[in-house]
Amino acid sequence: MKIKALILILFLFTQNINRVFADEGMWLPLLLETLNQDEMQSMGFKLTAEDIYSINHGSMKDAVVLFGGGCTAEIVSDQGLILTNHHCGYGSIARHSSVDNDLLTDGFWAMSQEQELNNDGLTATILVRMEDVTAQVMKFIKDGMTEAERQAAIDEASKQIVADAVKGSHYEAKVKAFYYGNEFYLFVYEVFEDIRLVGAPPSSIGKFGGDTDNWVWPRHTGDFSVFRIYANKDNEPAKYSKDNVPYKPKYFFPISMQGIQEDDFTFVFGYPGTTQHYTLSDGVQQITEEENPVAVSLRRTRMDIMEKYMTMDDATRIQYASKIAGVANYWKKMMGESLGIRQWNGIERKTKQEEEFDKRVQTNPELKAKYGNLMAEFEKVYTEIRPFNAAFNYFFEGVWSIEAVKYAWNFNKYIAVCSQDPKSTEIPRLQEDLKKGIEGHFKSINYDIDRETCAAMLSELGGMGKDFLPPYYQTLKEEYKGDWNACANNIYENSYFTSKENCTEFLDMKAKKVKKAADDPMFKLASGIINLYITKIQPGQAKYESRLDSLYRIYVQGLAEVFPEERMWPDANSTLRVAYGKVKGYDATDAVHYTWYTTLAGVIEKEDPAIEDYYVDEKLEELYNTKDYGKYADSDGTMHVGFIATNHTTGGNSGSPVLNANGELIGINFDRVWQGTMSDLMFDPNKCRNISVDIRYVLFIIDKYAGAGHLVEEMKLIR
Ligand code: ARG
Ligand code: ASP
Repeated sequence: MKIKALILILFLFTQNINRVFADEGMWLPLLLETLNQDEMQSMGFKLTAEDIYSINHGSMKDAVVLFGGGCTAEIVSDQGLILTNHHCGYGSIARHSSVDNDLLTDGFWAMSQEQELNNDGLTATILVRMEDVTAQVMKFIKDGMTEAERQAAIDEASKQIVADAVKGSHYEAKVKAFYYGNEFYLFVYEVFEDIRLVGAPPSSIGKFGGDTDNWVWPRHTGDFSVFRIYANKDNEPAKYSKDNVPYKPKYFFPISMQGIQEDDFTFVFGYPGTTQHYTLSDGVQQITEEENPVAVSLRRTRMDIMEKYMTMDDATRIQYASKIAGVANYWKKMMGESLGIRQWNGIERKTKQEEEFDKRVQTNPELKAKYGNLMAEFEKVYTEIRPFNAAFNYFFEGVWSIEAVKYAWNFNKYIAVCSQDPKSTEIPRLQEDLKKGIEGHFKSINYDIDRETCAAMLSELGGMGKDFLPPYYQTLKEEYKGDWNACANNIYENSYFTSKENCTEFLDMKAKKVKKAADDPMFKLASGIINLYITKIQPGQAKYESRLDSLYRIYVQGLAEVFPEERMWPDANSTLRVAYGKVKGYDATDAVHYTWYTTLAGVIEKEDPAIEDYYVDEKLEELYNTKDYGKYADSDGTMHVGFIATNHTTGGNSGSPVLNANGELIGINFDRVWQGTMSDLMFDPNKCRNISVDIRYVLFIIDKYAGAGHLVEEMKLIR
């Protein structure tokens, strides 16, 4: 029986049973009516599933935007105005910044539409519709197929389904697997390509608390930025053009000015990226006890090097701002995740659940026939995949963080072709492409940082295991007697790929000379390690991962049969989801209770001129001192800044609209609390909270702080 049908039946029978994990889950908008609507309404939701997702008329889903590739945004005016996080707009804001015009530090406000700034490559994607295509895909899958054959069949089916779905339209479409490939859904999208920057607060507001406060509550970050979607005259997606006009959406979110109370119903509508909540104890153990600590330590080392150079020079600070933010973010997340799992005894809990699964299976002949060997198989595969995962972790976090290694590897094909056939007609084109990239590459990299990073990473790579390191690594180690700094200095001095001049010279070289140049020390290092990755690590990992995929597919199906009392939700996979819960504080640790909201007083309390993350500028301080909050103050007279709720969110949900029982915007989601960062693996209802910036603080900053009240005028405020 199809999982969904099964869940539905089970749910109908078990609705009155207290759910073990209240508030857990990221649900498909298409299925809300059957799976969630009753529960949502019983928790306080005043509308219906049809108001959230409808294909017959404008509904909330038409106002939820996949922002770029990895964040969410929401439409808040009939002129395509969208809100997302400051950290989601960060890369775009940084690209418009220079030492003389530092939008990151000072903020930016377009006072008219003419002043809005173009962002090449930035997209805004809106879901047109989704559809269950499981039956269509299953027609292509035959019993006894290997994982690879199965995947090929799925790809083939998806290709046909997608082609049908977009025929005669400007839409794009994708088929995605759910429940480890037990179900498939089609998603049809409209992808807008002219997205302009409208406003951003200075980092002292948008990134207040910085990495010190990241993943932590209480929080006082005004983490928002403002963009606008532009379309052509027919209201359809178009590349940037002066002739484009603001997009007219099918729906936009009204904004609640009524404030929030603890225990209020709330939901989050957005694009969560990845969760792995079906992962067994062995997997959780490997992630939290083996992989995270290594990644955390390698990232710390890299960040120390970046920071050293960033404090020395402003141009480097801007150049690396976005890079270090990315590294720092998951550095901290991984620490919190491992801590949370440990404190919650996550591995033991998972183990118990697996034992219970196996017990029920072993005592029921019918289940035993299907799932009897499952746990033993899992154990075997998890043991076998371990060294490959460990090596991959070093490869990804260590080797792949050396920019020159990645860059040198770009030349692999060119060098190979030149070496095999210096007369090949392919050469001019390869050469041209590589030449085009030179300027951008060298602009984005500080080679002092990269050289030191390279030395530091090389000194750690031993952890990868002998089998996964090339002989050249050993040669270098002996040659430099373990002095990796000397080694890196030498490599960077003598490589074609570590300066613009050398690189240009390399590409101007006659093709028949290129073969010899391939002795380049950076290329040798890169190709040595990467070739081993391609021939050993990657295939090993792929082999066992495909085993795991098929085991998980069976396991997830088994869970539905073995634990009929539990409701199931499909792991996040960058598709549109709804999470719902209540505004709520939490007990963080023994004797520590956190209340559910923060205020501007907390910003002032944290203010510390000695710590960059806690800088508060005069204007904001003045607004605080005069309590000039206007209509944005809470009924208690304070300026609310952030709040937490029990919505289950993950990376990608940043920028998501946080809505009240009437579907009005009350905040913008941007983070999770420290004790709850493990929620990608396991959800602890007592500790997992999403963090949002109060929408009234956003409007207050736009209007009172920045003087861009014309943007608020565009919005629909509900009093
Ligand atoms: N932790 C949040 C999320 O995962 C916010 C990150 C903002 N970046 C930062 N380095 N402070 O994206
Ligand atoms: N900050 C995350 C994001 O950027 C959200 C999270 O992981 O809770 O999507």
